[in-house]
Amino acid sequence: MSIVSGTRTATAESMAEADDATRRRDHRLGFADQTEEVRVDALPVSGDVPTWLRGGLVRVTPAQMDFDQRSVSHWFDGMAMLNRFGFAGDGSVSYASRFLDTDARKAALASGGAAISGFATDPCRSLFQRVQSLFSPELTDNANVNLTRLGDEYIAMTETPIPVRFDPETLATLGHDEGAARFGQITTAHPHHDPERGELVNFAAQLGAKSEYRIYARSSSTEGRTLATMGVREPSYMHSFAITPRYALLIENPLVVNPLRLALSGKAFIHNYRWKPELGVRIHAFDRETGVLHRSWVADPFFVFHTINAFEDGEDIVIDLCAHEDASIIELLELEKLRAGSGHAVLGARPLRLTLAAGSGVASTRELADVDLELPRIAYRTRNGLPYRYVYGGSAGEAAFLKRLVKIDVEDGSHVVWDEPNAWAGEPVFVPRPDGDAEDDGVVLSVVMDAEAGSSFLLMLDAQTFEEIARAEAPHRVPFGFHGQFFGS
Ligand SMILES: [Fe+2]
Repeated sequence: MSIVSGTRTATAESMAEADDATRRRDHRLGFADQTEEVRVDALPVSGDVPTWLRGGLVRVTPAQMDFDQRSVSHWFDGMAMLNRFGFAGDGSVSYASRFLDTDARKAALASGGAAISGFATDPCRSLFQRVQSLFSPELTDNANVNLTRLGDEYIAMTETPIPVRFDPETLATLGHDEGAARFGQITTAHPHHDPERGELVNFAAQLGAKSEYRIYARSSSTEGRTLATMGVREPSYMHSFAITPRYALLIENPLVVNPLRLALSGKAFIHNYRWKPELGVRIHAFDRETGVLHRSWVADPFFVFHTINAFEDGEDIVIDLCAHEDASIIELLELEKLRAGSGHAVLGARPLRLTLAAGSGVASTRELADVDLELPRIAYRTRNGLPYRYVYGGSAGEAAFLKRLVKIDVEDGSHVVWDEPNAWAGEPVFVPRPDGDAEDDGVVLSVVMDAEAGSSFLLMLDAQTFEEIARAEAPHRVPFGFHGQFFGS
């Protein structure tokens, strides 16, 4: 097998491997392509779907990794497909899937492989093309990470500032959201909602001779403002951040990049970053009102994709997050490794509480529970930025990938588990019952792959008891993905 600019070239061996992935009866099946677009009005349902549940759970997944000439190198670079489970309020559940019609996918289909540089997949480029792209970087619009609402629009996001607008009912692609690009070249697919101001708050990095972090807020695709900035010599890779009513909190992983290297190396984005544990994890609290850097702290090194929540405790600040021991998780999620089933890809993530005391520059840490946790979700609408009690997430346990669902009580550290033979569960999304009082009054929705059956189902759990109340059988296998949202109707 030969390597060209970090991209695996197509060989009989790699294509056979991809075919093989579709025949495997374990988690590896979740990384096989699923290029069929489907629409079903009413899925077979068992149990009672709550009639107050109206709207759609829309998830975005990497669904096409293999092309005529070559496969993408990393799971994060698979082409984005939307999947929607619709709830009419009469107990029925519909299903639809549709690719995002992105420039990245069109170019990949036309050229037989990734043609626009992604997270960890670089197109085969001549030296001339590389020099050209240095002056006019081509950023991918393969928005396969997360979804959100911005004003009246629904957008799919990755970590480039080119979100893709879509129709949450038909899943049709409506074009790019052009307004995000002015805040930086790299952003996160985990913006926070500020319900009081009607804004989406996000983080971006502008890379260059003088690099800068920026916290910014947008109320629509055309309206936006910068809240805070901070100069930085070697920017950190940050996948998410946290907010409280007073603060925006950046958590700098000790995975950092020399911006010049990023511009000149010709390597895919993440391959330019270096793990420097000696830096520790640096946390910065910016005042959201004034933009002033309030204070910074340092913690012993770890790597974080996802914050869980944050809140103020008097003058102290508390941040909960999923901590990996180091950044090797990124390599473990390379497509070839996932499809081969080598390694335990997610076992390192611990739910960790950081306490940032007002009188100290050092964060104190403790584990929230004795269980591994990733893809965390909370009762976001009522608890984000505030004291809270429950987090839901995916967990591997003894398995080789996220398999089961857990609910952790962060007050007492206890947890409950949902698990089933052959089941591989995706991110659990909490949907509150309208007018419910308790924090966990609602349902948890998760798309689960039954590896033995070779198909997926939508699991509905009572969020309080964590017991199944209903499931709806999808007509086929929904590939594993990252994030989704429930959009009420
Ligand atoms: Fe994420």
